[in-house]
Amino acid sequence: MTDIYQSKSPFEGEKVRLRALEKSDLDEIMKHWNTYESRIGLANVIPMSSMMEEDFIQRSHEQAKAGRGYNFAIETLENKEFLGTCGIDSIWQPHKSCEIGMAIHNPENHNKGYGTDATICLLKVGFQVLNLHRMELWVFAYNKRAIHVYEKVGFKKIGQKREAYFLQGQFHDIYVMDILASEFKELYEK
Ligand SMILES: CC(C)(COP(=O)(O)OP(=O)(O)OC[C@H]1O[C@@H](n2cnc3c(N)ncnc32)[C@H](O)[C@@H]1OP(=O)(O)O)[C@@H](O)C(=O)NCCC(=O)NCCS
Repeated sequence: MTDIYQSKSPFEGEKVRLRALEKSDLDEIMKHWNTYESRIGLANVIPMSSMMEEDFIQRSHEQAKAGRGYNFAIETLENKEFLGTCGIDSIWQPHKSCEIGMAIHNPENHNKGYGTDATICLLKVGFQVLNLHRMELWVFAYNKRAIHVYEKVGFKKIGQKREAYFLQGQFHDIYVMDILASEFKELYEK
C-alpha cells in the first residue's frame, strides 16, 4: 500500500499545478482568452466578453458543488504564473464517464510541455481522485498539436464525426478520443 503522505499530489505535475478556478482569475483569463490562434482549438471562436467568462466561473462553481464537473486554473510550479484552464466536465456518475477540456491561453506558452503535463494531472485527478472509469474528449482534426499530446499521454482515437465543425468557410472532422482506467493504470501505475 502506498504511503499517501509520501506520494505526490495528483494536482501537481513536473511543470504545472491544477488549482481551483477563482473569480479573481478573470483578469488573467481575459488577457489571452480571445487570442484567435488558441481559440481555433476550442469549441467557439467568437470572442467572449468578461461577463460571459464570469458566468463560466460561476457555472463552474455550481457544477463543482453538485459534483458534475471540476474546472481548474493551470499555473506554473515555478512561480505560479497563470497559464490557462482545464476541466473534467459532464461527469456521468452511474457509468463513471466524463469529458475533458484543456487550454493553455497564451500561444507564447504553447510547445513548452505545459499542456502535456496538465493533461496527465487531469488523468490522475479523474482516475485516482474521482474514481472514474473512462475519460473522453473531442478534438478538431486540424488540431495536430493537441492530437499529438493526447495520443502521447494515452488517449486513443475511437471515432470520427465527419464534417461536424464549420470554420473559415469549411467543414472539419472532429475526432473522439478516450482512455480507460485500466489503460491509465498500465501507463502510470506500473
Ligand atoms: C493543445 C494544447 C493544450 C497543447 O499544450 P502545449 O503546452 O502547447 O503542448 P506541449 O508543449 O505539452 O506538447 C506539444 C507537443 O506537440 C508537438 N507538436 C507541436 N505542433 C505540432 C503539430 N503541428 N503536429 C504534431 N505535433 C505537434 C510538439 O512537438 C510536442 O510534442 P513532443 O513533446 O512529443 O515533442 C495547447 O497548445 C493549447 O491550449 N492550444 C489551444 C487550445 C486547444 O487547442 N486546446 C485543445 C482542445 S481539444
